[in-house]
Amino acid sequence: MTKINAPLARQTNDLDAFWLPFTPNRAFKRAPRVIARAKDMHYFTPDGRAVLDGLAGLWCANTGHNRDPIVAAISRQAAELDYSAAFHFAHPKSFELASRVAALAPGDLNRVFFCNSGSEAVDTALKIALAYHNVRGEGARTRLIGRERAYHGVGFGGISVGGIVNNRKFFGTLLAGVDHLPATYNREHQAFTKGEPAWGAHLADELERIVALHGASTIAAVIVEPMAGSTGVLPPPKGYLERLRSICDKYGILLIFDEVITGFGRLGYAFAAERYGVTPDLLCFAKGITAGAVPMGGVIARQGLYDAFMHGPEHVIELFHGYTYSAHPLACAAGLAALDLYRDEKLFERAKRLESRFADAAMTLKGLPGVLDVRTVGLSAGIDLAPRPDAAGERGYEAMERAFHDEDLVIRIAGDTLAIAPPLIVSEAQIAEIFDKTARVIRAVA
Ligand SMILES: Cc1ncc(COP(=O)(O)O)c(C=O)c1O
Repeated sequence: MTKINAPLARQTNDLDAFWLPFTPNRAFKRAPRVIARAKDMHYFTPDGRAVLDGLAGLWCANTGHNRDPIVAAISRQAAELDYSAAFHFAHPKSFELASRVAALAPGDLNRVFFCNSGSEAVDTALKIALAYHNVRGEGARTRLIGRERAYHGVGFGGISVGGIVNNRKFFGTLLAGVDHLPATYNREHQAFTKGEPAWGAHLADELERIVALHGASTIAAVIVEPMAGSTGVLPPPKGYLERLRSICDKYGILLIFDEVITGFGRLGYAFAAERYGVTPDLLCFAKGITAGAVPMGGVIARQGLYDAFMHGPEHVIELFHGYTYSAHPLACAAGLAALDLYRDEKLFERAKRLESRFADAAMTLKGLPGVLDVRTVGLSAGIDLAPRPDAAGERGYEAMERAFHDEDLVIRIAGDTLAIAPPLIVSEAQIAEIFDKTARVIRAVA
C-alpha cells in the first residue's frame, strides 16, 4: 500500500493492522465483535444493536459504563491539567485518591503506590516485597511463591508467579526461584457450590511443605488472588486464606493479595480482604479503581512496610521504581469520581445484597447439557462446559460468539469455562436476562 492511500485504509472495515491481545486474531477478523458505544449496562455495536454487558467490561466497569460523573471528571481534568511529572512532583488529586483508597482498605494498609494496570501492580508488589527484605538486611529472601491456575497479568513477574501454562510456556525461563502452591479447585469435592467451598482449607498447608523444602529464610512473599477470576471464578475454600496468613506470619513471609478483580465491590466489599477478615501485607488493585474508564493500578502497603524504606539520607530515593504515568491526572480524576459513585450508590452493599439472587440464577444452569460445574461468589459466576473431544476450548469460544451475535450478551471465556461478572448496577431483571441468554447459548453449543 502506498503512503498516499494510507488514510483511506483507516476505515473500520480494515481490520488488518490491529494485532488483538489475548484473542484468536484470524477467527475474530472473520466475524468481528465491534463495540462502538456504551451506557450503563449496555454496549452498542456500530449499527446500533444493544448488547448486555455480562462482564463489566473486563471485570472493571463496576459502576456501569460511561457514567456521567466519571465522564465529566475526566473531561474537566483534561482541561485543567493533562499531565505533570510523576517523579519528584505530584498533583493534588494523587494525594486525595491515595487517601481515599487507603481509607477503604482494612487494617494498617495505608500507603498507596500508583501504576497503570494490574500487571504493573503485581510486578510492583513483587518488587516492593523483595526490596523490603533487602533494606531490612534479609536480602537472601528472594523466592516468590504463586499458585497454580493463578492469573497475575502478563509482566515477567506476573507470569512467573502465575499458574496458566499457555501464559508461561512460550516465554523462556521466566523469573528464577519461583514455586507454586496447588490450585484450590477440586470438582469432586466442590461442584455446584455457592460461595466459598467447605473443602480445601488444608491446601494452604502446602506452604509448609514449600518452606520445608527451601527454608523460610529464602522466601520473600506468597501471592494469591483471594478469588481466582480469570481461570474461571474459583472462590477460596473456607478457612484457606486465614491459614495462609498464619503460616506466612510464622515464617516472616509477606502475603500479597492480588485484588485486581476482587477489589471495588465484586465480592460485596471494597476488598476481598475485608470479606475474609484477612489482611495481607501488600494488596494489588486496578480495574474497578476507575471503573475501567482510564487505565490505573496500584499497590497498597502496610504502614510498617513503607516505614522500613524511610531511612537513610532524605535526598535519596527510597524505592527505585515507578512509571511515567503513575498517578496520571486523568486516572486520578476518574478514580475519585468512581469512588464517589461506589459510595453514593452503595454499590458494594448492592453487590452483597444481590449475591444470593445472582447465585440462585446461576445455578439454574445446572443440568443443562455439558454443564460440569457452576460456581458463584459475590457478583461472579464460573460455568465449566465439557470440552469437545480433541477440541479443547472450541465449545467455549462458540458460546462466546453465539452470546454476542445471537443473544446480544457479552460473557468471558477461559477455555471451555464461561465467566459472568456484570456491573454492580445490574438489576434483578437483568440478572435473570443474563442467565436466560446463557442457558440458550449453552443449549445451542451442546
Ligand atoms: C488477578 C489479576 N491480576 C492481574 C491482572 C492483570 O491486569 P491488567 O490486564 O490490567 O494488566 C488481572 C487481569 O485480569 C487479574 O485478573
